[in-house]
Amino acid sequence: MSTRRAEQESKASSPVDTASMTALLRRVVDIGLNFKDQRDIFRRRLPPDRIRDLLVRDLPHESSTVDSVLESFARTALPLCKNEASPRFLGFGDTGDDPAALAGGLLAMFTQQNLINQSFDSPSATFVEIAVLRWLRELLGYVNPPVADIRTVWDVGGVITHGGTSSNTVAMMLARENQVPETMHGGVRNPDQFSVIVPRGIGHYSIRSALTWIGVGDQAIEVETRDFRYDLTALERAVRRHREHIMAVVAYAGDSRTQTVEHLRRVHDVIRAIEPRIWLHVDACWGLVAAFSDQLRHLIDGISEFDSATVDPHKVMAVPYGLSALLVRQPSSLRTVSSYSDLIMQEDYAFGQVTPFLGTKGWLSLKLWMMMLSHGRAGLASLAEDRVRKAQRFADLLEEHPRLLRLHEPDLAAVAFIYLPKDIRLKPPIAMEHIARINAVNQCIHKQMLLEGTWYLHQFSLPDDHGLLRAGATLHPLRFMANNPRTTEVHMVEVINYVTELGHALEGDIR
Ligand SMILES: Cc1ncc(COP(=O)(O)O)c(C=O)c1O
Repeated sequence: MSTRRAEQESKASSPVDTASMTALLRRVVDIGLNFKDQRDIFRRRLPPDRIRDLLVRDLPHESSTVDSVLESFARTALPLCKNEASPRFLGFGDTGDDPAALAGGLLAMFTQQNLINQSFDSPSATFVEIAVLRWLRELLGYVNPPVADIRTVWDVGGVITHGGTSSNTVAMMLARENQVPETMHGGVRNPDQFSVIVPRGIGHYSIRSALTWIGVGDQAIEVETRDFRYDLTALERAVRRHREHIMAVVAYAGDSRTQTVEHLRRVHDVIRAIEPRIWLHVDACWGLVAAFSDQLRHLIDGISEFDSATVDPHKVMAVPYGLSALLVRQPSSLRTVSSYSDLIMQEDYAFGQVTPFLGTKGWLSLKLWMMMLSHGRAGLASLAEDRVRKAQRFADLLEEHPRLLRLHEPDLAAVAFIYLPKDIRLKPPIAMEHIARINAVNQCIHKQMLLEGTWYLHQFSLPDDHGLLRAGATLHPLRFMANNPRTTEVHMVEVINYVTELGHALEGDIR
C-alpha cells in the first residue's frame, strides 16, 4: 500500500475530525496565552467555601460540547487561578512559560509515551530522557560514560521524577540501602541506624517526609547554622557524636528560603575526614541555576563529590510543572533501589525499574529537552546571570529604604527582607517583644497582600542567622524572587512602595 493511501485510510478511520480539533486547540492555546499575558495575578478572588460551592458539582447526565466545557472553564475556574506569569508575581519559582518548554509539554501530551518501558512504550522518548539526564549530570560535573557504554538504565546515572520531593525521597532510599544493604527486601530491623543530618531551620520538609515514607522514621538530626549554612564546627561535632547512626548528610545548594548556597566542598571534606561511608546528598533544586554560568559555577564548587543531587528544572528553567531529576555520582548505585515485574519492564532500557513509587510515567523530560536545545549553553548562562543580577538590583533598592531590612546577601534569585515599624530602632539585640511586633506587622502585610491579590511575595519563618535583629530569633520576612522574566525594575520599585505603604497603614493597629 502506498504511504499516501495508508495515510488517507488512517485519517478516514480516525474518530477525530482534524479540522475541528485544530480549531479547538487554537482556542485552547489562545485561552492559555491570554491567561499568561494578563497583568494581574488573579482576575477574581473568592473565599475557599465560595469556590467550593461554585465548582464542586454533580456530574451531569447529559453530554456537553467541548466548546461549552471550555466556556464554562473560562468563566468559572480560570479567573480564580493564580497567574505566576504576571509581572507582579514575585514570590516563588518559575513562571513555566519558556516557548520551547511549552511546546515540549504539549507534544508530550499528544505523543502519549510511557517511560515505564522502552521497546514498545517509548522507543525514542527513553533516549531523549537519557540525553537530558546526561546534560544535567554534565552541568553538575558528574562524569558521563561514553554513549556506546550506555547499555542499561543503570548506566545513565539519574532518573526523572515529578518534583524535588520525589527526587529527595529516592535519595533517602539510596542512603538507606547504602547504610544497610537489602533493607529494600528485608525491611527495617533497627531504625536507630538511619539518622540524617540536616541544617536547623532552613531545610526543606521533604527530607523528613521522605524518612517517614521509606519506613525509617523521622530521625533528622538538626545541626546549627551560621549565615544560612552549616556551622562546620557543630557539623563535625554532630557527625563524631552520632557517627554509627548517620546514614546521610543533606546540604542545600540554595535552601528553600534565602537560597543561600552551602559551602559544599567544605561540608564534603568535614564528613569524609570522619566517615567515608556516609551518603552525601545535595538538594540543588534552586542551585542548579549556578551550573549554567562560568560566572556562578564557583558557588557550587564540590557538588560533584556528593553521592546524589536533586535538581528541579521546574523551579529554575521556566519549564511547566512538574519536572525534577535525581542524579547520582555512581550510576550503578541506582541498582540498590530497583525493582521489576515479570509483567513488564524486563528490558535493559526500561526506566520503570529505577523509578521507585512510579509505574506509568509520561514524557516529562521532553519539555526540558526542547528548552535546553533552544537556549543552548550560552542561553542558559544568560538566563542564570540575568536572574542573579536582578536579585542583586532588588537588594540594592532595599538599601535605599530605611524601613526595609534585607536579611542576607543574595546568592541566587531570592531576597528575603523585613519591614521595620517606625518606632523600632535597629540596634541588635532587639527585645523579644519587639521581634514579636515586627513579625506581627510583616504577617499582616502578607495577609493583606494575599487578600488584595495585586502583588505576591512569599512568606515563611526564618532564623535570624546573621543576627541582624537578634541572633537566634525566628523572623517572618517577605521574599522577592527574581525568576519572573516579565518583572522589570519598575515592578520592583512599585512592590517596595506597596509594602512600605501597607506597613505604614498597618503598624499602628499592632502593638
Ligand atoms: C530546597 C527544596 N527542596 C525540595 C523542594 C520540593 O520540591 P517539589 O515541590 O518540586 O516537590 C523544594 C520546594 O520548594 C525546595 O525549595
